Amino acid sequence: MKSEEIRQYFLEFFEKRGHKIIPSSSLIPEDDPSVLLTTAGMQQFKKYFTREKDPIKDFGTQRVASIQKCFRTTDIEEIGDERHLSFFEMLGNFSFGPIVNDDPNDYGIGGYFKKASINWAYEFLKSLGLKIDYVSVFKGENNIPFDEESYNVWISLGFKKEDIKKFGKEDNFWGPTGEEGPCGPTTEIYIDNIEVWNLVFNEYYQTADKKLEKLKYPGVDTGMGFERLMKVLQKTPTIFETDLFEPLRTYVLNEKPDIAERDLRIILDHTRGAVFLIADGVRPSNLERGYILRRILRRLMLKLKIWDILSKKDVFIKAVIDKFKNIYKEIDNYDKIKEVIDKEFRGFEKTLERGLREFNKRINGNEKEEELGEKLFVLYTSFGLPLEISKELLKNMNIEITENSINIFNKLFKEHQKISKNI
Ligand code: SER
Repeated sequence: MKSEEIRQYFLEFFEKRGHKIIPSSSLIPEDDPSVLLTTAGMQQFKKYFTREKDPIKDFGTQRVASIQKCFRTTDIEEIGDERHLSFFEMLGNFSFGPIVNDDPNDYGIGGYFKKASINWAYEFLKSLGLKIDYVSVFKGENNIPFDEESYNVWISLGFKKEDIKKFGKEDNFWGPTGEEGPCGPTTEIYIDNIEVWNLVFNEYYQTADKKLEKLKYPGVDTGMGFERLMKVLQKTPTIFETDLFEPLRTYVLNEKPDIAERDLRIILDHTRGAVFLIADGVRPSNLERGYILRRILRRLMLKLKIWDILSKKDVFIKAVIDKFKNIYKEIDNYDKIKEVIDKEFRGFEKTLERGLREFNKRINGNEKEEELGEKLFVLYTSFGLPLEISKELLKNMNIEITENSINIFNKLFKEHQKISKNI
């Protein structure tokens, strides 16, 4: 099944069960200064969990479902391995309290909780022919009790004790996003050893001073990574071979059949990420969201340049737009997106060319830690080559930069700043 069909199928599955389908919110959170970007499906619903807003009034039901655009920056350094992404989509169903009926056979509009949500997740995956390997539940920790209810629901579905793992707060407690917000114990579903679906039972509110208070009404917030779901459905080696990265992947491979896998993944991820950020109004800068976009654009440019496919950039942008424009109307804006990327690339081109030349001239890969830190400092201050780009180039030489080298770089940089200020 293609991703387009699964999108439809997911939304219909929950619509049939009383959920109102809500469009994805922007990657720039509307009403939440505590986070730079939207990282989870529940973010646009925070005020329904706290009951500052009334779901019945706004949606006519206590149940909603969505496919949310998300962007996580914690993982940017890891991108290039088999599973990390900056931009991704999350399929989710949500219930806002009070609990009216937790019976999975109830297709009404009232709030539900653990029994209905676990049953539906199970039913949904089963209907796709997927077999759950195992699940996890919250074992109880820090005065928050063991989630016996979820455990018992899984038992009632025929799961054996050994297939219901019990983990602590680190693994099976989610949230909040940003400084404060709804959070709670989770039950997580694993297929082919991948965590595919996270069911969060928002029973608490974490305050800005990190205290947990009971929410007036408990709610449900589930999130299923779309790329992961497609990987297990399409049985691809990694998420990057799923149709969510087509036709871009094919286009890049047609140009460069021998491209390093890691660089290919970075191109796939960063092209999508940049297109979606720009479409939602982010512009490259040295601050906050703008800096995130700048970083991924510059790394993207580096990869395209190294592989000599910079001239194909527009085709690659278009491939992403064509793939998603029927689902997210805002990205159907090729001229603007291209203009922003062109401007950033133009501004960085000279620095990158000179930086690459100097890097190749100065770095041989045999440097001691201290010497490497010094050289990277010179590359940055005299030639403008950002440290992240140097790190990328070192990675291509199979060199992981050490903590010591970074410390030297930072020390020299601080001294340099002091001197510059005094001048
Ligand atoms: N909020 C949870 C997550 O992001 C589940 O949707 O994983």
